[in-house]
Amino acid sequence: MALPDSFIQELKARSDIVDVISSYVNLKRTGRNMVGLCPFHGEKTPSFHVNVENAYFHCFGCGAGGDVITFIRRIENLDYMDAVRLLAQRAGMTVPTEGVDDKTARIRARIFEANREAARFFHRMLYSPQGAQALAYLRGRGLKESTIKHFGLGYAPPGRFALVDALREKGFRDNELVTANLAFAGRRGNAVDRFVDRVMFPIIDLRGNVIAFGGRVMGDGKPKYLNTSDTLVFRKSNQLFALNFAKNSGEQRLILVEGYMDVIALHQAGFTNAVATLGTALAVDHARLMARYTKEVIVSYDSDAAGQKAADRAIPMLRDAGLTVRVLAIPGSKDPDEYIRSFGEQGPARFKQLLDATGNDVEYRLQKAKSGCDLTTAEGKIAYLNAAVSVLATLDSRMEQEIYAGRLSEEVGIQKSAVMQQVDKLLRKRMRSAQTRQVREIQQSVSAQRDSVNPQRAAHLRAAHAEEALIAYVINNPDMAKNIGEQMPPEGMVTDFNRRVYQLVMGRIQEGRPVDLMDLSQEFSMEEMGRITQILSSAPPTGDTWESAQEYIRVIRLEKETLTAADIPSAGVEDINKYLETLKELKK
Ligand code: CTP
Ligand code: MN
Repeated sequence: MALPDSFIQELKARSDIVDVISSYVNLKRTGRNMVGLCPFHGEKTPSFHVNVENAYFHCFGCGAGGDVITFIRRIENLDYMDAVRLLAQRAGMTVPTEGVDDKTARIRARIFEANREAARFFHRMLYSPQGAQALAYLRGRGLKESTIKHFGLGYAPPGRFALVDALREKGFRDNELVTANLAFAGRRGNAVDRFVDRVMFPIIDLRGNVIAFGGRVMGDGKPKYLNTSDTLVFRKSNQLFALNFAKNSGEQRLILVEGYMDVIALHQAGFTNAVATLGTALAVDHARLMARYTKEVIVSYDSDAAGQKAADRAIPMLRDAGLTVRVLAIPGSKDPDEYIRSFGEQGPARFKQLLDATGNDVEYRLQKAKSGCDLTTAEGKIAYLNAAVSVLATLDSRMEQEIYAGRLSEEVGIQKSAVMQQVDKLLRKRMRSAQTRQVREIQQSVSAQRDSVNPQRAAHLRAAHAEEALIAYVINNPDMAKNIGEQMPPEGMVTDFNRRVYQLVMGRIQEGRPVDLMDLSQEFSMEEMGRITQILSSAPPTGDTWESAQEYIRVIRLEKETLTAADIPSAGVEDINKYLETLKELKK
């Protein structure tokens, strides 16, 4: 599936890495680089660097890195070819198809097509005589005609082959329907409908593809909702229902609710910035996804115990993704859909009132800390203070802590400094245990020595360091490559991963082709690209000298010789002498 060099070169020329990354990350210039908050892990201080000159990014926090294609792969969760396609589309170029044998991409395209046809079929069925009951059900839940159309809702008829037959007619093969998770494989391997007699909610991604479905029973059957399992085009842990609409709502914030029907009711009521997870609890990826589109999230989960527990889990995740969190508490044991409907015409206005009254998450947590404490008694006050102090200790802004400590002191009638003293005491305690934990983690990671990119690195750290520095030197000084190559052929490298990188780089230079990360990203995985950018980022900013390159070569040779000598079990006297020599050398 190699793409022609000329195509890659042009794509590179037309895809300015700063332009591309800027549409996802807020970048600021520092010296020759641009920095911002890493979109791949939650952080509050920027460690995500874009090297403008050499057109690569590298995060010193999580190790992600690579060229512009790798960036798109990671952030859009695409494979290499799809990332190239997206960039090409953006640059107004057509990807050459000749010689492209991308089986996965073909299967994915078929799943998209099957899903789209299925959504059409379900929608048609809703308006067929068979769908009368389903349509009545949706209307009975207060949905307007326009809402049903907007969300493309549908009905999966009873029987075992309704959808399967319809899609076979359209030319889909049984195994394609099974791969799309629209059907399961029957006893004889034939496809059997997976969604039967259910109201259907299509899930649409940000590019308008139908990627999955949720299906609800109309009675009390189990499970209440049946969702598409993860497929080649769908991972439920990083998709949000209705984000395709919400991202265009023009609102500065997103409302996060629990269910499909909550989202739909809110959109119908004019709150088009509502989204929900898909039959799963909020995951870190969801929080990061939201952080790409907004700075503030209003959590409006069901007011029952399960909903509150879910909110308690979600809030810190959202905060960690850098989001401001507010919590909208619904009075009575209800979800947003039921709440809005219970007020009829007044529903939207009533929800708006709740929205305007939302406290931030600190206020919400303090409120919870207070509930159940009787503030007229000393015990009640102490219990409240203890709980409140542990909330304040989770805030990382001193100012925030001071403000809430001030409010607490007035509320409970003790000095603010006393509150702050307690906060500091708790903070010190938490810091100590965090340190202990960190030390333990470091110890564990050292002993496990897990390095999936270059597993030999830990055992040959000295050689690996020298190899990496030499690779950076060659990339930065291609005119020296010939000479370096004569002194250090790829076989001379100690670790396999570094040898692979070195060999590829040398090959490109010898063929007179430019070396940049864009060429490498065809050959290496995203994790490997991260390592390569780390290698480049660790090189001295002014570049290494010829003398240091010589020193790297010397180190690599020594280590290699030691290794080779140690590898020979039946070494002759000469070899052993040589081995001892090199050992002596090493100790110097
Ligand atoms: N869910 C699911 N599978 C279930 C139950 C729930 O996937 N068996 C998911 C659905 O995404 C659902 C959400 O969890 O929308 C919230 O569940 P719940 O509160 O039970 O349903 P509601 O959204 O209130 O649905 P409805 O109003 O239709 O009863
Ligand atoms: Mn509900």
